[in-house]
Amino acid sequence: MVEPWHILGAGAVGQLLACKLQRAGIPAQLLCRDLAAAQVLSQGIEYHEGSGSSRIPVSATSADQLDAIRALFITTKANQAITAFEQVQGLLRPDTPVVLLHNGMGVYEQLVQRYPSQHLFCGTTTEAAYRRGPCVLVHTGKGETSLGQFNGSDAPGWFTAFANSEEAFCWEADIAHSLWRKLVINCAINPLTAIHRCRNGELLDNPEYRAQATRVCAELAAVCRARGEESLADQVQDIAFAVMRSTAQNQSSMLQDVLHKRPTEIDFISGYLCREAHRLQVPCPLNEQLWQQLS
Ligand code: PAF
Repeated sequence: MVEPWHILGAGAVGQLLACKLQRAGIPAQLLCRDLAAAQVLSQGIEYHEGSGSSRIPVSATSADQLDAIRALFITTKANQAITAFEQVQGLLRPDTPVVLLHNGMGVYEQLVQRYPSQHLFCGTTTEAAYRRGPCVLVHTGKGETSLGQFNGSDAPGWFTAFANSEEAFCWEADIAHSLWRKLVINCAINPLTAIHRCRNGELLDNPEYRAQATRVCAELAAVCRARGEESLADQVQDIAFAVMRSTAQNQSSMLQDVLHKRPTEIDFISGYLCREAHRLQVPCPLNEQLWQQLS
């Protein structure tokens, strides 16, 4: 029997991944906080895309029902990822692949330091989705999901099934670059939308917000340049503004967290950026201010 991928974190990203793996024919099972939540999800995910909808069958359980996990995606928020990992760590073997898929950076570094023998991978996605109910998923933007390892390794054997599917998975030899690209997008959009309580597109439409976003991007570009990421540095503002445009009607994940009074990922987004800027001695006063304001 092929061992399933377990997906820890049944929010929008986890549910979207479960649907993609189901369509790709890759066995997968969502891990919920308890069996009652798993039973609800086991009825399937009501999946909306454009004007169409369908019910996608998914499998779900809770970790206390398992003896072992052979392959794992962690799709919780960045601020919950380490606790989530530690909750299931007793079920993992050192060679169990663990793929981190969340906004922001910093979780990988902490995990690799504490669990150096674990097979850790990172991922980032440009797919956009939100949940309209516990099992109602709205897929608002098609994109790509890139996976890779910080040491730039070749794709492992398990990735073949992902590569052969039509679900837009790609192996990224330079995953750090992809993660930084996503980090600058999140730094430019998430804190400002959370503070101004506005949709992504308003950052372009409102002259005051646009001026702030422009300053944030200039600081981000200076950090990228100091890291040697010249081409990303040159494009920061274009990339961030293009995402604001293509997701104009979306509420960013950070705005949603603030509106629902949930902890945000600010420490893994602006916090991570500012710590890196400090190390490189690049001043980032506006990013610092946004980080402090939301902490
Ligand atoms: O966090 C989010 O909401 C998304 O990553 C992004 C790209 C900012 C679009 O809303």
